Amino acid sequence: MDNQNKRKPEVSTPGKISWKPGNMLYPLPVVMVSCGREGETPNIITVAWAGTVCSDPAVVSISVRKERFSHKIIKDTGEFVINLVNKPLVRATDYCGVKSGRDVDKFKEMKLTPLPSQHVKAPGIGESPVNLECRVVDVKELGSHDMFIAKVMGVTVDERYMNDKGKFNLNASGLVTYSHGEYFELGKRLGSFGYSVKRPAKKRGPGNRGAKTSGASSGAGKKSRRTKG
Ligand SMILES: Cc1cc2nc3c(=O)[nH]c(=O)nc-3n(C[C@H](O)[C@H](O)[C@H](O)COP(=O)(O)O)c2cc1C
Repeated sequence: MDNQNKRKPEVSTPGKISWKPGNMLYPLPVVMVSCGREGETPNIITVAWAGTVCSDPAVVSISVRKERFSHKIIKDTGEFVINLVNKPLVRATDYCGVKSGRDVDKFKEMKLTPLPSQHVKAPGIGESPVNLECRVVDVKELGSHDMFIAKVMGVTVDERYMNDKGKFNLNASGLVTYSHGEYFELGKRLGSFGYSVKRPAKKRGPGNRGAKTSGASSGAGKKSRRTKG
């Protein structure tokens, strides 16, 4: 045995508490994943272990425990729809996360509307502001969960959140996030992408007519946009 192995565990930094490894990556998106076999009642599973993993092609992941009713459906069909959750959907989201499709028809119980998909057979949820139709490209068996890596085949958005300039105002839809066992509605806007490197806009004065805002002309701002995600 060398000296290193005789050493006591490191004393943690004063004011900090060290825990054993665990999942403490919060906040997370919480999504309703709809799935189904042709001719059968579609199902919904609530998933917080979800993520974006590639921009081009658009690829996402969801991690699902093998014992979930939805797991076999997704494994067999290779398809699912990710439905974003906003405030009006939060109760249904919780319900779909504690009840199993083995026992209940979650669409019916939560009065949700199956939305026909364009690229996959599984329906989306009509009440959701955004539906991502996904086709599984890989399954990683990681342990407790299997990670389904899937290509986004198509996106549907609710036109209710389009403004008159044709911009999709997703952040006005009351999106919900999940953090350490609790649901929250997205709150106050603190900034926008790249704002930390934008020069403050020059005040327009008599001698400064037509001065552009630095946001529109700053190279840094443009670079930030290019490197986004
Ligand atoms: C907020 C929340 C997040 C959840 N996240 C996951 C998840 O990421 N993966 C998973 O397998 N189960 C997750 N669950 C549990 C399933 O949604 C739950 O077991 C559900 O009843 C399974 O439905 P099914 O049996 O119809 O497939 C979550 C539940 C809640 C309430």
